[in-house]
Amino acid sequence: MCGIVGYIGKNLVSPILLNGLKRLEYRGYDSAGISILQNGQILTLKKAGKVAELESLLNHNDYDSKIGIAHTRWATHGEPNDLNAHPHFDNSKEISLVHNGIIENYASLKKNLTERGYYFESDTDTEVLAVLVGHFYIKTKDLCESVRLALNEVTGTFGIVVMSSNEPNTLVAARRGSPMVFGIGDDEFIIASDASAIIAHTKQVIYINDNEMIIVNQNTFHTKTIYNEKTDNKIHEIEFDLTQIEKGGFPHFMLKEIYEQPITFKDSFRGRIIQKEGDIKLGGLRSVAENLRNSKRIIITACGTSWHSSLVGEYLIENFANIPVEVEYASEFRYRNPVINKDDIVFAVSQSGETADTLAAIKEAKQKGAIVLGIVNQVGSSIARETDAGMYIHAGPEIGVASTKAFTSQVSAFILIALYLGRMKNISKSDGMRYCNEISLIPDKMQSILDNAEAIKEIAKHYSYANNFLYLGRGYNFPVALEGALKLKEISYIHAEGYPAAEMKHGPIALIDENMPVVIIATKDEIYEKVISNIEEVRARGGKVIAIATEGDENIKNYANHIFYIPETLSFLTPLLAVIPLQLLSYYMAVELGRDVDQPRNLAKSVTVE
Ligand code: G6P
Repeated sequence: MCGIVGYIGKNLVSPILLNGLKRLEYRGYDSAGISILQNGQILTLKKAGKVAELESLLNHNDYDSKIGIAHTRWATHGEPNDLNAHPHFDNSKEISLVHNGIIENYASLKKNLTERGYYFESDTDTEVLAVLVGHFYIKTKDLCESVRLALNEVTGTFGIVVMSSNEPNTLVAARRGSPMVFGIGDDEFIIASDASAIIAHTKQVIYINDNEMIIVNQNTFHTKTIYNEKTDNKIHEIEFDLTQIEKGGFPHFMLKEIYEQPITFKDSFRGRIIQKEGDIKLGGLRSVAENLRNSKRIIITACGTSWHSSLVGEYLIENFANIPVEVEYASEFRYRNPVINKDDIVFAVSQSGETADTLAAIKEAKQKGAIVLGIVNQVGSSIARETDAGMYIHAGPEIGVASTKAFTSQVSAFILIALYLGRMKNISKSDGMRYCNEISLIPDKMQSILDNAEAIKEIAKHYSYANNFLYLGRGYNFPVALEGALKLKEISYIHAEGYPAAEMKHGPIALIDENMPVVIIATKDEIYEKVISNIEEVRARGGKVIAIATEGDENIKNYANHIFYIPETLSFLTPLLAVIPLQLLSYYMAVELGRDVDQPRNLAKSVTVE
C-alpha cells in the first residue's frame, strides 16, 4: 500500500526513481510524485493518476540530480488529487518527505502546529509529519535528529524517506509497521517499500525493523532506533530475479501468474515430500512439531484470498489431523477479544507478509500466549519475522493485484501441514504414499487446464453481459467458490457472491432468474449427487449454469449450459485445479469489459493500513 523509493548514488536519479515507481505501482496508483535536488533546491513534481501521468510531467527531462525520493499513493487521508499527492514539505519547503502508513494522531498534532503558526496545504496526515520535522529542524539544524524527534511524537504506522536541501548528501528513512528495504549497491544506495524496486540495482539488502531509522550519506550508512539506541543489521540476499517481476511476454501480470502455477505449485512442495515414506518434511515447523501434534485447537487468521485458502486449510487439517480448526478474519480476530487457550496454535497466512490486520492479529495472539506460525510468501517480510516459526510458500513475487498463484501455493502449504500432522497421528504409510503421488501429478494437471484456456475465454465472452454472478461449491470447493467470486469482483467489478451450494436455497435462490449465471463446482466426489440436485434447483428457476466438472463426466451435460472439464484427482486436491478456470474466467471477463486487470480501481496489493 503506497510505494516508496529513495536513491542516493552515482547515477542520475530521476529515471531510477521513475523505474522504481513503475515496479511499485501495484502497491497503489492514485497519484505519484517525485522530489529531487536541483541547483541546491528541492524540485518536486506530483500528479494525480498513475505513474504514467508523472512520467509525462517529467517529459524525459534528465535532471542533473543524484539524490531524490518518490512515491506512488493509495489514498487513506484526503482524496487522490495533485495537492494530496506525495512528497509533502515542511513550511520552509526545504524538507521533503514521502510516507506509507497512517499517522493516527495527526489531527491533534495539526492543531498544535497550527496554534504555533504553521500552515497546511493538503488534507493528508503525511504533511503534518513533514511540518513537524521542519519544526524540530529549526531548533536542531540536523535532519536525522529532527526526523527522530518528530517520530517520537507520532502514533500510528509509517515507512518514510526524508530529504533536505540543507543536507544535500543525506537521506533519512524509518519504519514502524510499514515495510522498508534498504539496498546496498555499487556506489549507490536505494531504499524502497519493497525489494522489487531495488533488484535492478542490487541483491544485497537490509530489512529495516520497526522503530528503526537508517541514515544514508553518499558512501556510508548507519542505523539506530528512533529512541537513539544502536542497532545491528544483517545483510540479506534477495531471492528472486528481475525476470520474475517482469511480464515475460504476457499481456498482464495476472495472466502470467495464473500460468506460473504448475511451477509455483511444484516449488511449494519441492524437498518437502518423502515419497517412499509417504511422509512430509517441514523444516520450518520442526521446532514446534510437538506443540502442533499436541495442540487442542488451531486458529488460522488471514485476509482476502489468504482467508479463502485458510478455509481450505480448515477442512484439510480437521480431516487429516483430527484437530479442531477455526478460521478468523484477522481484522475481527484482533478486536473481539478472542479466547486463546494453552495448547492452541495460531497460523497467520499472508502472501505479502505485510497486511496490517494480520500483523495486528499476530500481536494479539502472542500477547495471549499463543505460539504463532506463519505461512508467508514474501521472504523477510514483517509477518515472517514476527511469527515464532513457519513455512514459506515459495510462489515468487506476485505483482497482479488479484492474488492467484499465492492461493494454490497456500493451499499446498495446508495440504502439507495436514498430511504432516496426519502422518504423526493416523494416516498409514500406504495412504501417505498414495497422497504424495497424487500431489506430484497436480502440476501436469494444472498445465492441461491452462492448455485449454481458450474454452474459458469463450465462456467469458458469452456471459460478459451479466451484472451478477453466483458461485457455488461444497466441501473443499466451497472456499473455491468464494475465491472465484472474489476474483470476479476484484478485477471485472461485476457483483458476485460465493455460497455453499446447499445454502443457496436459504436466500440466494431468490436472486436466480435467466439473467443470473451460476458457476458451480460439480466435480466427481462423494457429494456429486447433492451438487447435481443444487444445479437442478438453479435450472428450475431459469438460471444459467456454468459447471466445473471432472473429465469424463457425461452426465453433467444434461444439466449445465456450459461445462469446463478439469482432470480427475483426489477430492482434497480439487481446489488446486478447480480454482484455475475461475481465475481465468475473471481474467477474461475483465479483459472483455476493458478493465485494468493488474491495477483494478480502489484496490492495493498489500494493505498495510488497518
Ligand atoms: C489485499 C489484496 C488481496 C489479498 C489480501 C490479503 O486485499 O488485494 O489480493 O488477498 O490483501 O493479503 P496478504 O498479502 O496478507 O495475503
